[in-house]
Amino acid sequence: MKKKLYGIFILLAFALVMAACSSDSSSDQNDETDKGDQSESAGEDGNVEIFSWWTGAGEEEGLLALIELFEEEHPDINVENAAVAGGAGTNAKAVLATRMQGNDPPSTFQVHGGEELNKSWVAADKMEPLNDFYEENNWMDKYPEELIDLVSDDGNIYSVPVNVHRGNPVFYNMEVFEEHDIDIPTTFDEFFEAADKLDDAGVIPLALGDKESWPATQIFENILLGVLGPDDYQKLFDGEIEFNDDRVVEAAEIFGKMLEYINEDHASRNWQDSAQLVANGEAAMLNMGDWAKGYFSNDLDMETNVDFGYFDFPETEGMFQVITDTFGLPKGVKNTDDVKKFLTVLGSVEGQDTFNPLKGGIPARVDADPEKYDDYGKDAMEDFTSARLVPSLAHGSAASEGFLTKANQAVNIFVTQGDIDNFIQALENAAPEM
Ligand code: GAL
Repeated sequence: MKKKLYGIFILLAFALVMAACSSDSSSDQNDETDKGDQSESAGEDGNVEIFSWWTGAGEEEGLLALIELFEEEHPDINVENAAVAGGAGTNAKAVLATRMQGNDPPSTFQVHGGEELNKSWVAADKMEPLNDFYEENNWMDKYPEELIDLVSDDGNIYSVPVNVHRGNPVFYNMEVFEEHDIDIPTTFDEFFEAADKLDDAGVIPLALGDKESWPATQIFENILLGVLGPDDYQKLFDGEIEFNDDRVVEAAEIFGKMLEYINEDHASRNWQDSAQLVANGEAAMLNMGDWAKGYFSNDLDMETNVDFGYFDFPETEGMFQVITDTFGLPKGVKNTDDVKKFLTVLGSVEGQDTFNPLKGGIPARVDADPEKYDDYGKDAMEDFTSARLVPSLAHGSAASEGFLTKANQAVNIFVTQGDIDNFIQALENAAPEM
């Protein structure tokens, strides 16, 4: 009986939601004149809804500080922090897709520069070009050309980068390295030598938390980068090199071998949980984007180059896996002036220097203040100007969402089954979606 009532309740709730959606969309359609299928219902005056996946430890501090700065400058505008938990946007991207398809865009949303922005939202004609806005703010020479390219399509600029994260550092526990006399590994061979030594001493060599599969994908993309080098890595995602190339197979073999050195409970941990293993010395190393540096410094009170150190993922020295979080202006949002005020703060030197020291990455702007950053940040800023920049697959820049979803699935199956042929086949099958 209880079950039946519960069922009826669910049906009623569903019907109410559907009714709300359909009445929204019918009024949207009535409003529509020259805007195709875009809604005009989004965004109330005096209210800015910021959509992201930055919730909880190691994720939200930067955003909250940025919002605080915005509220100080614009006390008349109310900010709605619409964040959906789940690293790398695992859940947020699905919620966003539903909202965008239902013509209910947030005022602005987190989106990676590169294919995630361009192939998903720009291609679907869901974003307003921001060229004039960039000109008004004198931003054209304040962002590196490479970043402007990542947020542009066909001469139009579609979003404002708030940061640059690096995807190929390995963070390590300095005390553990010292205690076991481990040298920084620069090649895969050296990595495995160090891993064996740590393993023999009862330390987990490499921490992984792939409850969501992207941290494993991130390791694989870094191995690909190390084996292929930056040019051919790029060619792979441009479809000029096939996934059954011998070097991709070699990368899969190295990946399989690395997975022999991870913590057994990897599938039940998220990225913060895996970082904790390194923080408490149970594990020695972690490959993670440098949001982990924000987590170590601001949440776990660890000191850079004292408690934790960092080095380039083996064989990727002089290369920089670029991840950039950006925010744009969806079509159909009503109070564009208020949203632009938020984007102006987010794109300002002060905004970026408020956000990034907490978030762990570096500012996207070229004229930010290096003194606001610790040694890690200063190094990353310098590397960003001198290293070979390559787009990250795991974080939306190198290939479309469709491909990434399938690559994450393929990686996840590989982590559990270890079958190289199946893995390569799955990547090949997904390649047309790149
Ligand atoms: C990335 C994002 C970062 C960080 C990370 C973990 O995709 O660019 O800012 O949030 O996911 O969730």
